[in-house]
Amino acid sequence: PSQAAKPGPPEDPGQATKLGQPEDPGQPTKLGQPPEPGLPTEPGQGAQPGRAGAGSYDLVLALGTAGSLPAGAGPAAEVGRELGADRGGLGPEGFALARRDAVTVVLADEPAGLLHGLFQVVRLGPAAFGADRPVERHRPALRLRLVSHWDNVDVHPVMGQVERGYAGGSIFWLDGAPRQDPERVRDYARLLAACGMNAMTVNNVNVHGTATRLLTDRLDDVAAIADLVRPYGIRVHLSVNFAAPVTLGELPTADPLDDDVRAWWAEAAKRVYGTIPDFGGFMVKADSEGQPGPYRYGRTHADGANMLADALAPYGGMVHWRAFVYDHRQDWRDRSTDRARAAYDHFTPLDGQFRDNVIVQVKHGPMDFQTREPVSPVLAAMPHTRLALEVQATQEYTGQQRHVCYLGPWWSEVLRFAPWGPGRPTVASVAAGSAGDDGAAPSGGGGLVVVSNVGADHYWTGHPLAQANLYAIGRLGWAPDLDPLAVLDEWIDLTFTPSASTDPELLRDTLHALLDDSWRTYERYTAPLGVGFMVAPGHHYGPDVDGYEYSRWGTYHFADRDGVGVDRTRAAGTGFTGQYPQPWADRYESLETCPDELLLFFHHVPYRHVLHSGSTVIQHIYDTHFAGVEQVAELVRRWERIGPAGLVDPALHARVTDRLAEQQRCAEEWRDKVNTYFLRKSGVPDAHGRRIY
Ligand code: GCU
Repeated sequence: PSQAAKPGPPEDPGQATKLGQPEDPGQPTKLGQPPEPGLPTEPGQGAQPGRAGAGSYDLVLALGTAGSLPAGAGPAAEVGRELGADRGGLGPEGFALARRDAVTVVLADEPAGLLHGLFQVVRLGPAAFGADRPVERHRPALRLRLVSHWDNVDVHPVMGQVERGYAGGSIFWLDGAPRQDPERVRDYARLLAACGMNAMTVNNVNVHGTATRLLTDRLDDVAAIADLVRPYGIRVHLSVNFAAPVTLGELPTADPLDDDVRAWWAEAAKRVYGTIPDFGGFMVKADSEGQPGPYRYGRTHADGANMLADALAPYGGMVHWRAFVYDHRQDWRDRSTDRARAAYDHFTPLDGQFRDNVIVQVKHGPMDFQTREPVSPVLAAMPHTRLALEVQATQEYTGQQRHVCYLGPWWSEVLRFAPWGPGRPTVASVAAGSAGDDGAAPSGGGGLVVVSNVGADHYWTGHPLAQANLYAIGRLGWAPDLDPLAVLDEWIDLTFTPSASTDPELLRDTLHALLDDSWRTYERYTAPLGVGFMVAPGHHYGPDVDGYEYSRWGTYHFADRDGVGVDRTRAAGTGFTGQYPQPWADRYESLETCPDELLLFFHHVPYRHVLHSGSTVIQHIYDTHFAGVEQVAELVRRWERIGPAGLVDPALHARVTDRLAEQQRCAEEWRDKVNTYFLRKSGVPDAHGRRIY
C-alpha cells in the first residue's frame, strides 16, 4: 500500500525524504548502550504480526486522510475510519495511536505528526506492541517549542564559544566558522524531535562580530544547518542584532521608523527566505545588557518589534522579542529602583500594540533564572499580546551541570501556576493562547523557549544526568500537565534501558534518588527563601554572599544585623506585589500569606521571624544548609553503590562520580559560607550547636 508504510525502508520513497529516515529514533538519547531488544527497531517483533496486502508487519505509520487509505490498509484504515471527522483535528504535529488486531497504528495528517507518533511508539517500548489499545489522540499544547542556543560564532573573550555553556564547545560553531560536524547536528535534531521540540535559534541572543553577518554574507552557514535539521521537523530561527544596518556599515541609523532601515530589513528578510524557505524568524535582545535597541532612537519596543515583523510577514516569519529589559547600571544606594519591576514597567504599557507575528518572550521569573523566584507578573498582564515562556535548561544558576539539578518539577510548577488563582487559567494556557477571556492571549500564544544545555561534549550536556532537563522541557512543552517524575521515568527508560540490566529496580531507584528532589536539595544549600543570587560575580558558580550586594546589577539581599530580604510590598517597599492580579497581589503582600519559599523575595524580616513551617528564618537557614549537604553526601553513597554492579557504562559512571564529588565540595562551601555569614551578621547561634565558623 502506498500510504501505509512498514517500519524500515518505506515503500513510498516520498515519505522517506519527508521524514528523514528516522530508522533508529532511540539512538541519540542512548548513552553508549546497545539498543534494547524489544524496542520497535526490528520489524516483526512483538505479538502476532498483522497482514496487509503483500507483507506482514506489526507497526503501521500512515500519512493522509482517512479517505485516502486503501481498503488493504487493514487496521490502519479501521483506525482512520474511527477517527472519522476528527482527523482534521490532529493538526500539523498531532497523531493518533492505537493497537488493533496485533497491529500498532500511527496516523497523522502531516509528516511531522508521523515522526512524533513514531517517537511515542519508542517511548512506549514493548507496551506499544502488547494488548490492544483504544485510539489515543496526541497534539502539542504549545505550538512553538523553541530551543535557544547561546552559541557564539566567534569565541567571545569572556564568555567563550558558548555563553553560559557547560557542555563543551558549540555543536554548530568553532572559532568563527561552522564546526563541520553534520552528523552531530543531524543527531541533535533527532534528539530534539524525540524530546518534542520544533524550532531552534543557532546563535546567541548577544549578537557580536561574525554572528551579525549570519544574516548577510554568512547566511549559507545557517542554510546548511537548516538543511540538516529540517527532516526532523525543526525550523531554524536566527538571533539578530538590532543595529545590524549600522554595524554592518551600510546605514547611518537603525531607527525602526526610518524608511531606509525598514527597506534594509525587508531586503534582509527577502534574502533569508530566498535561501531558507521555511526559515522561522528573528529573535531579538534589544536595549538589554548593552545590546542595541529602539530606545536609542526614542522609539518603543513595539516600534522595533513591529518593524522586523513587517519585514518577515510576507513569508510567515515570526519575531521573538525578549522582555528581559532592565537597568544594568543601577546604583546600589538607590532603593527606589527594583529590577524585578522592570519587564512589567517596560512592556505592559505596550500591550495590544504588537503585530500578530510578534511574540514577546518573557523569562519565567522577574529576575534571572534563579533557583526560586515568583512567576513573572508580565505573563498575566498582556492579554492582547502573544507571550512565550522562557526557561533556562543550561544550569547557569543551578549548578552549571556540575551539580545534579533536575528542573522538571520547577518548570512544572511554573507552567501550572494560576496567576488569577486556583481554577483559573495557568501560565501554560497563556503560552498556549488558550487562556480565553480570563487571561486572553490571542492568536495561538507564543509557546515555549528554552535556553539550551547542549554542547559538543560526549554526553551532550556535560553532566550526563542533565540530559533529563532537555528531555523534560520538551515533554512539558508538548504536554504541560505531565507529572515531571513520570517524565523522568520515561527518560530513564529511553536512556538507560533498565529492563535490560541485571538489577533494573536498583538502577531506576538510584536514578530517582539522585534526580527527583535534586532541585530542592540545591535550593537548600544555596540562597535561602527566594532571596536569590549570592553567587560569585561574573561566572555565577559557587557562593559569594555579598558578591552582588554593592554592584550595579540590581540583585540585592539587604542583610544587616537585624534581618534580611527585599521589601517589595506596596505598603512599604518597591510596590512590586502590585504587579500581580488578585489573589497573588495580596497573598505576596502579606507576611501571613506569603509562601515561605518566597518570603525573602517579597519581605525584609528579622532573623527571628517565624515561618509557616514553625522555624525561625535564621534557624531555617542553618537547618536547610546542613540538610542539603547531608543529602548530597547520600547521593554520593547511592551512586557509589551501583558502580560495582555494572548497571551503567563505566565511563558514564566515572563522569557522574567526578561531578558528584565536586557537587559535594561546593555544597559544603555554600553551607559554610552562608551559615557563617548569617551567624556573624545576626549573632544568633544555631539551636543545635553545630559547627559554624
Ligand atoms: C543572564 C546571563 C547572560 C545572558 C542574559 C540573557 O543575565 O547571565 O549571560 O546574556 O541572562 O538572558 O540575555
